[in-house]
Amino acid sequence: MLSIIVAKAKNNVIGKNNQMLWHLSDDLKRFKQLTLNHTIIMGRKTFESLGRVLPNRKHIVFTQNPDFKVNNENVEVVHSLLQVQEYIESDEEVFVIGGAMIYHLLMPYVTKMYVTEIHKDFEGDTFFPKIDESVWKEISREKGPEDPENDFEYEYVIYEKN
Ligand SMILES: NC(=O)c1ccc[n+]([C@@H]2O[C@H](COP(=O)([O-])OP(=O)(O)OC[C@H]3O[C@@H](n4cnc5c(N)ncnc54)[C@H](OP(=O)(O)O)[C@@H]3O)[C@@H](O)[C@H]2O)c1
Repeated sequence: MLSIIVAKAKNNVIGKNNQMLWHLSDDLKRFKQLTLNHTIIMGRKTFESLGRVLPNRKHIVFTQNPDFKVNNENVEVVHSLLQVQEYIESDEEVFVIGGAMIYHLLMPYVTKMYVTEIHKDFEGDTFFPKIDESVWKEISREKGPEDPENDFEYEYVIYEKN
């Protein structure tokens, strides 16, 4: 099964100039807790913005470039949906970690979403798709702990497909 994990602003912004727009340490800790020892799927741009291979996670990286190679046994480069079919059908939870192009591409196959909703608008160039309430049901919502580095509130929201 595929699950999306994302942190998004009130206006659905998720990034700018191939970077994140906030540093939210509790959210990063949660990302690590949820994804550790799982497979994570991402676009080439997000992979490059990570700047490294995250420990104890298998990385699947989408690109259309047939020459794109990563010399690391924990990274598999894929070029088509067919190549991730096994992860869609798997009983194990596999995380789709972005960015926008990959969220759009895989959303129809995702059954659960872990969304950090930041209660502030940000100016950016990359957006999370609108969450269609006729498709997605909110199953939990929890306020994130106050963060001395940030002036906004945020919530951890979990959605499941209806
Ligand atoms: N807030 C969050 O939770 C969060 C999470 C992740 C990322 N982000 C942000 O999102 C931004 C990056 O998102 P993005 O949408 O620009 O890029 P992306 O989805 O990370 O990567 C896009 C790349 O994926 C490949 N790709 C896309 N569709 C494909 C397909 N159908 N088949 C094969 N390959 C495909 C292409 O690589 P090639 O060009 O190599 O062909 C494309 O350029 C950054 O600002 C990042 O910081 C935010």
